Amino acid sequence: MTLVKMKDILDQAEVNHYGVGAFSVANMEMVRGAVWAAEELRSPLILQIAEVRLNHSPLHLIGPVMVEAAKRATVPVAVHFDHGLTEGKIREALEIGFTSIMYDGSHYPLEKNINETKKMAAMAREFGATVEAEIGQVGGSEDGSIDLEILITSVAEAKRFAAETGIDALAIAIGNAHGMYKGEPNLRIDRLAEINSEIEIPLVLHGGSGISESDFHTCISHGIRKINVATATFNNVVKVINENTHFENYFSYQQRIMEAAAVNVKHHMEMFMSTGRV
Ligand code: 13P
Repeated sequence: MTLVKMKDILDQAEVNHYGVGAFSVANMEMVRGAVWAAEELRSPLILQIAEVRLNHSPLHLIGPVMVEAAKRATVPVAVHFDHGLTEGKIREALEIGFTSIMYDGSHYPLEKNINETKKMAAMAREFGATVEAEIGQVGGSEDGSIDLEILITSVAEAKRFAAETGIDALAIAIGNAHGMYKGEPNLRIDRLAEINSEIEIPLVLHGGSGISESDFHTCISHGIRKINVATATFNNVVKVINENTHFENYFSYQQRIMEAAAVNVKHHMEMFMSTGRV
């Protein structure tokens, strides 16, 4: 138990057919809430932060908090750099001790995505870290700044991308989107099943907030092993704070943030069937 590589967590999930939540955090309270939830439910945990969030939560401050919290946890915790865009920040995360990185070159043409991903993967390997990358385009955007259209992952491209980059986990686009869904999510399970039958490595579903429990179960049955959740946690923290206009003192406010994050993390861990596994 303690800080582990993401690959170790995903390998266990693969053998035992469950999903593992990768929960985005923005401050110490959310880190503590997520670890607390994982310890209470005996679930593996992936703690993550995306590069676009660093303006609010600088990496040199939040990174060591995440790594230290993972080291002291009584369950396996991987610390993951989500949607890495620049070599400098990915390297900084690895130096701080993150045990996995996602390089996001999904906006590039296939050839360039493959070449850039290979470079970042080679750097991550120097640190012994796990590598995730993306092919196709997930809708919305991580911080809501743009609304990217969904480009469903092609099976042939996914196969080539996985083979040529040698990554450990592949994020795919099957109708999933970052942020809250405008209507019901319409996931292309047929495409997921095809990709899963052609590719050995664990598959990653971004845009977890707003997907139903039955869709999660279907995705898990077709090879999704890592599920990213950000908006639902942030929204639950805001909701709880808005509903409590009076706090006894600053510390009861801090406690409520931690609890609000933990409630959402627990809810998703239960849906992902990762509880009682460690
Ligand atoms: P949501 O904000 O939709 O949960 O997506 C999170 C995510 O995919 C982070 O990479």
